[in-house]
Amino acid sequence: MVPVFNDKKLEILMILGEKLSGDMFTHDDINLLGIISNQLAVSIKNAQLYKDKVHSERLASIGMMSATFAHEIRNPLTSLKTFAQLMPEKYNDPEFRDSFSKIVEGEIERIDGLISDLLDFSMEKKSSRTNYFDLVSLLDETVNYVKEKLDFEKKNIGIEKNYGISAMKMSGDATNLKQAFINLLTNGCQAMNGEGKLKVDINTDKKHVEIAITDTGEGIDPDDISKIFDPFVTTKEMGIGLGLAISKRIVEDHKGSIHVKSQLSKGTTFTISLPVQI
Ligand SMILES: Nc1ncnc2c1ncn2[C@@H]1O[C@H](COP(=O)(O)OP(=O)(O)OP(=O)(O)O)[C@@H](O)[C@H]1O
Ligand SMILES: [Mg+2]
Repeated sequence: MVPVFNDKKLEILMILGEKLSGDMFTHDDINLLGIISNQLAVSIKNAQLYKDKVHSERLASIGMMSATFAHEIRNPLTSLKTFAQLMPEKYNDPEFRDSFSKIVEGEIERIDGLISDLLDFSMEKKSSRTNYFDLVSLLDETVNYVKEKLDFEKKNIGIEKNYGISAMKMSGDATNLKQAFINLLTNGCQAMNGEGKLKVDINTDKKHVEIAITDTGEGIDPDDISKIFDPFVTTKEMGIGLGLAISKRIVEDHKGSIHVKSQLSKGTTFTISLPVQI
């Protein structure tokens, strides 16, 4: 009998019959069987480690995705909740009703988009929502949407639009790109503590289209700047630290890149560069 142990646990018991020649087992035979047993133990260990690694990577990616969805769904839910709470007292205010219907519809669309992503993910495929859209209109819609929210929250933040182009046709996932813009605009507003200026630029050199979002907020410490795109890096009490990681992934899914420049106490500029499509 030749036992094969893995971490002191008996994994396999090889039961040998007689040798074909009918001879007795020699010392050399027994040594060889010992080597085979050790090699088998190493192979079993490796297979197990590989299985554990695949399993833990899958768990980590599911964890990351769940945290992403929790993060992205919480924002629209918070704003829906605020509106619902204000509804009874403000129902007769036409301005409120107007922004209510716009914002509620927008937030429901965002949640709907996230659910599509979740379904795509569970079927292990990438976002499949490719559509044709105008990038300048998409950016402008997003900026107006953030402006509505700032006005509603009575924030003293001005938005300056500097559009060097009036249209830019693109194909891609418009809902995701909108999410990336919202994440950057929201960070800019949060960095200004309710007061300052948010500048939105869009320009092209014919090869790339660049969208720059500049705030006059607190800026980023040079020691932290290399980490801010990593998941779960946050300096905010209520932050999860996923906004930038998600935005970077979305931009890279569109074959683009994202950069940051910042000066402490002066402000920050995030620039998204996307390839122009012909
Ligand atoms: N415009 C900005 N100005 C100053 N600091 C910023 C700016 N944008 C991001 N940061 C820094 O980068 C960190 C990571 O940003 P990110 O958007 O990924 O997460 P978060 O805003 O902290 O939380 P979440 O977006 O998940 O709610 C922030 O906590 C903040 O320290
Ligand atoms: Mg953020």
